[in-house]
Order: sequence, then structure tokens, then C-alpha cells
Amino acid sequence: MVSSRAHEDAYTAEPFLPDRGGLPALRRAAAGCRGCPLHRDATQTVFGTGNAHASVMLVGEQPGDQEDRQGKPFVGPAGKLLDRALAEAGIDPDDTYVTNAVKHFKFTRAEPRKRRIHKAPTLREMTACGPWLAAELAVVEPELIVVLGATAGKALLGSSFRVTRVRGTVLEEEIHGRPERLVPTVHPSSVLRSDDRQAAYRGLVADLEVAARTLA
Ligand code: URA
Ligand code: SF4
Repeated sequence: MVSSRAHEDAYTAEPFLPDRGGLPALRRAAAGCRGCPLHRDATQTVFGTGNAHASVMLVGEQPGDQEDRQGKPFVGPAGKLLDRALAEAGIDPDDTYVTNAVKHFKFTRAEPRKRRIHKAPTLREMTACGPWLAAELAVVEPELIVVLGATAGKALLGSSFRVTRVRGTVLEEEIHGRPERLVPTVHPSSVLRSDDRQAAYRGLVADLEVAARTLA
């Protein structure tokens, strides 16, 4: 195990990025990414989807169980809730691009063959996967980034990000060398886990309404 630390420090998607091409080339290349160990146990890379010229890019944490099986972001329960909240806030789904900070599902199992339980990615894994998100941002050039929860916030804005402090506000920050506008909100999964789902859901919609007004 002498070299394990040096090996971990080398986690990065960088060598897997194509030299040219748009989203299709990125998606093809990301399918073969081995930039960190998360590709080993997951089914497939879950790359972003949506309008390549979208005004809004939504960034989540990482694919969940359903996303890992289907190969598309936000197709499970959290995604259904997000779709509903976006519609209520008046954000046109055809004007969005949806992706995650980390492109492979990270999970544990309580016992072999039991249900797969989501596990939060580490800062090192988020950093390793960052070049894919940076490449998506460079191609899509959204007017606004909606940051869904703490992991996406940390991946984009650094480890001091606190969703409770900045949710529902418009931030202007330099991300991967480009000036970006961002509206952070909670992760839709946190609404599903909330003791007061109705209030949590209203809060999510209210934050998305800030995003919608920023576009208008
Ligand atoms: N949660 C996420 O953060 N992303 C998905 O794609 C699904 C659930
Ligand atoms: Fe590559 Fe990201 Fe998957 Fe790690 S999580 S293997 S960096 S695509």
C-alpha cells in the first residue's frame, strides 16, 4: 500500500477529455472515463442531457440508483419532484440542461445483493470529475446555473459553500475561469426526506422562481 496516496492524488478525468467536439463527443468520451474509482462499481457513466443551448443548467450531486440503471440524470423520484417544481416555477424543461457534479453512482450495500444505498462523493471524487462539468459549461454556456444542494455547491463554489446561507439568491462567481450567475437551492432528494415535505417543496419552488425571474 506504499503508493496508495500518490495514486489517490492522481484522481482526475482530465486525460479522458476529447480535444474537440461538442456534447456528443464529450458524452462518448465520458462513457470510458476511469478518472477515479467510482466507475468500477457503477453500471455506467451518467452524462448530462438536455438542450445544448439551454438558458439554464441544473447541477445535481451524482446519479442515483435509477439514473445508474437508465443512464440519464434525474429520472428517479428526485427527478420527478424536480420536474414538478420546475413546471410550477415556470422554467421550460426544453430550455434546460441537466447534469451532476459527479457522473458515476456511488453507493454501499448493507448486505450483499441488498438495495444499493447512496453514498456522498468525496471532495477528491468531485474534483476528479470536475473537468466534465467544466466542459459541459463551456459548450452549453448557460445564462444561469441552478445549484441543487450542497455537493453541487461545493463542486462549483468550493468547500465553504453552505446552501442554507445562499439559497434563493443570485450569485455571480467565476467558475472554471468564466463569469457565471448561479442560484443555489436545496437538493430535491432532501425535500423527499424532509419531515415537512410540503414546506420543503414550497421552498424549492420559491428558489426556482428566483431563477425564473433572473432569466426573464
Ligand atoms: N440526484 C442527483 O443529484 N442527481 C440525479 O441525477 C439523481 C438524483
Ligand atoms: Fe470519471 Fe467522474 Fe466517473 Fe470518476 S465519477 S470515473 S471522474 S466520470
